[in-house]
Amino acid sequence: MSSDTHVPVLLGPVLEGLEIRTDGLYVDGTFGRGGHSSAILQRLNADGRLIAIDRDPQAIAAASPLLTNDPRFTLIRSDFADLARQLDQMGLTGRVDGMVCVLGVSSPQLDEAGRGFSFLRDGPLDMRMDPDAGISAAEWLNTANEKTMKQVFYKYGEERDAPRIARAIVAARADTAFATTGQLADVVCSVIPAHTRKKHAATKTFQAIRIFINDELGQLERVLKQSIKILAAGGRLCVISFHSLEDRIVKRFMRDASRESDQWRGMPDVPAEFQPKLRIIGKAITASAEEVAANVRARSARLRVAERN
Ligand SMILES: C[S@@+](CC[C@H](N)C(=O)[O-])C[C@H]1O[C@@H](n2cnc3c(N)ncnc32)[C@H](O)[C@@H]1O
Repeated sequence: MSSDTHVPVLLGPVLEGLEIRTDGLYVDGTFGRGGHSSAILQRLNADGRLIAIDRDPQAIAAASPLLTNDPRFTLIRSDFADLARQLDQMGLTGRVDGMVCVLGVSSPQLDEAGRGFSFLRDGPLDMRMDPDAGISAAEWLNTANEKTMKQVFYKYGEERDAPRIARAIVAARADTAFATTGQLADVVCSVIPAHTRKKHAATKTFQAIRIFINDELGQLERVLKQSIKILAAGGRLCVISFHSLEDRIVKRFMRDASRESDQWRGMPDVPAEFQPKLRIIGKAITASAEEVAANVRARSARLRVAERN
């Protein structure tokens, strides 16, 4: 999918999951190219409001004037792990009627060689969603020790050949420092025979590095926790994940927050702070065959919805 044919993933189910009230307050934690934001805004009346954030300055810069000139819309460049603080500053804590996060990278981020996310397009080995924060993938690969790299490839890529890949990276960088995605893809392919994998041999290594340097799972855990403070009673939380590491975190969070705490189970007058904070709405939703045929990235998308009690 190219950046000018942007298709928001699971749009219908997200809009349904949010149960949009036309005069409600909504948050889009992952603005991207504004697909979900635009559709939400279309369903709001003059009293409705949408606050969207994204950590990527290119996503902010690409926002259409149709959106940014709309008085009901506010766009903020920020990590979604900082959402509670941002909303607090606006006096909106506990007032949000619905919040959506579509995790991971956007198609424009993947498609543009210059961002360094893709093993299919040679470019600078960067992979930061916010290029002003933290260190690039190249800086990390050129300095991390072998054991740390091995752990990252195992943990965030579920890469069974993590030890061989980490060893090959250390050997390769002794010769030439890593600077491009092509260099990394070549080194990974040199130790993993292509015929042993269904996907490109470097898929899992690239995923692991991306998740690690952007602290994607830490960000997710923090925003989920904050959703309890952010949402109004009856407010909806919709999260779309693209791989099992993310989905596991979302599923566990929703399950734990929708349970009564052990010491109060079965008691008649449970204090408010020990009552379940969320109610799970339905099962995880995946894309229809038609949606996957039109947008291959939807294949692994999984939407989970919960409501604030
Ligand atoms: C899959 S895209 C979102 C697509 C969007 N809903 C649309 O319709 O265009 C994910 C976006 O979330 C942003 N993002 C990912 N993690 C983030 C985080 N922790 N904080 C803020 N933005 C984040 C990325 O920069 C990217 O633009």
